[in-house]
Formats: sequence, structure tokens, C-alpha cells
Amino acid sequence: MANVAEPDRSVWTITPTCRICRAAWNLAPGIIGAKEDGKAAFQRQPENDEETMQAWRAALACPTGSILAPRGLKMPDNVFPQVLAENLYRLGYNDNDTAGAHPFFIRSSAGLNFLIDGPRYVPKLVEFFEQQGGLDHVLLTHRDDVGASAKYAERFGARLWIHENDRSASPQATDILTGYAISEPIPGVTVIPIPGHTIGSVAFLIDERLFVGDSLSWELADRRLWTNPLRCWDDWDMQRRSLKRLQDFRFTYMLAGHGGSIGFPHERFQAELATCLAGLATTSWQPLTHLPNGVPIPDEWKVLWANVVPGVKKDFFAAVGSA
Ligand SMILES: [Fe+2]
Repeated sequence: MANVAEPDRSVWTITPTCRICRAAWNLAPGIIGAKEDGKAAFQRQPENDEETMQAWRAALACPTGSILAPRGLKMPDNVFPQVLAENLYRLGYNDNDTAGAHPFFIRSSAGLNFLIDGPRYVPKLVEFFEQQGGLDHVLLTHRDDVGASAKYAERFGARLWIHENDRSASPQATDILTGYAISEPIPGVTVIPIPGHTIGSVAFLIDERLFVGDSLSWELADRRLWTNPLRCWDDWDMQRRSLKRLQDFRFTYMLAGHGGSIGFPHERFQAELATCLAGLATTSWQPLTHLPNGVPIPDEWKVLWANVVPGVKKDFFAAVGSA
């Protein structure tokens, strides 16, 4: 009889080290789901080649290495990077320091190569970037998703960008975005400051691909655009106002740090966004006392909320209006 403390290695399985980052079920939504305690579990085994590939993607993206393949099953060579659309890739190798956020790569129509947010530093991605001709810019959507971004920027001599309000998270940043106006500091890259989830959150729009960090996602179960107030760290009023800004832009793919990413025609996105905004308008929020994993809010966040957020909010609403 198998020891109940040992996972059954004849099938795909997930260990209790899961940190509930949701990366796994974003990548294998039909076969991995949440248990009652919120941790990921296989709801059923992969049944075909595509589902097996989804399980491998979940395993490589999992920042805690909690997903175990059946013993002896050989991993394919092409699990990541995952092609999402032309010149657009999900990179996998999600970093535990980013709470498992999804990093992306895009080659722009202007011929520039971008890493969006920081994966783990792994030879597979270094090799991929080399094959693409290197990296020109590393763009950080906000303070949570820094990961190994500085190591990749250093390796490829790329510029490293973050907003001034979150800059303490990336001391190696070479370029600091300031203020709340829409800007194009790099040809073909529209910067849309969207404070709220964090005060330095930024969306990057490149060739109709919108990288939103943790400010918005496609909810795979509900099939809707949404942002969870329990994942809003710094200010809900700002986050709602920020997401309204996205109505002014044309995008046909939305890439989320946590949760689902999806492509739609522009008109469908605008309709989905309008529905989302209407729902957010009546969704209440309280400053959090604990992170989703149960850890109490760090003291430095409370200092930030008391001493910095009110000034940011004043400046942001002065720049964009509060309605
Ligand atoms: Fe975040």
C-alpha cells in the first residue's frame, strides 16, 4: 500500500507546497482547479497531447515547483516560450518573488524586443532571447512583478523601466516613468499609468497588445474581465478610475500578470470593459489587513498608505479627473 504522505508518482499530482498563485490553472484550466483550501489540484488527468502540454506548462510556470509529472514522463522541449499570437509569447518560469506572475515577450512592429515583467533567470529563456536577437527594453508593470528582470536587463544590455512610485522595488532600473500623463517614451510603446493595485502600476500598449500587470485579468471561470478587490493593495478609487482610462485605447490582446490573458476584437474588449467597469462601480473595498495567503500586511505598506498614497491620489485625480 502506498504511503499516504507520499504523492502518487504514477500520475500528475500537486504537492501541498502550492502557494495559491493561480498560475497553474490559468495554463491548464480544464484539468487543474482549486481545492477547498484554495490550493491547486488536478481535477482529472490530461487526456490528450494538448492537455499534457498544458500540464507541462503549469509545471514549469509553477513558482514553487509543486506540480509533479508522472515519474519517467519525458518533458517536451517546446513547453515555453508559448506563442500566443504573432511575435507575442508567454514565457513561463514564473518567479516565486512575483507571487507567480506571468511574464511575456513581444517583438514590436518597430523591431524592438521587450521583456514584460520578470521571470526566473533560466538558461532556456536566455537562449530564447539570444535567438530573438536580444532584449532592447525590460518593462515592469509594477513593484510586485520584478523577479529576475534586472539580471536579464544586465545580460542583454537592455533598458529597465519602472514607474517612480514603485521604483524602490527595482533599484537597478535605468529609466523611471513619471507622472500620470499618457506618454510614448519608446517608439511604439504607449505608457498608461494606472495606479491603484499599486501606486506605480502602469499598462504598456504595444501594437494593440495591452500589458496590464495585476490591475485587470480575464477570469477563466466566469469568462469576464475583472479585478478582485482583495488583490487591490493601495487604493480602490484610483484603480477603478485607472481602468476607465483603458476605454481610450484600441487593443486586441490583454496580457495579465495574474489570471487569464485573452485576445478579442477591439469592439468586444470595449464591451467587456464597460461591463467590468459597471460592476466595479458598485464593488466595495476596504484596505486589506492580510494578504490572500493569510500573512498580515507588512508595516511598510501601512506607512506607504498613510504617508504616500493620499498625495498620489490627489495628484492622479488632478491629472485625470476623479470621474
Ligand atoms: Fe501585483
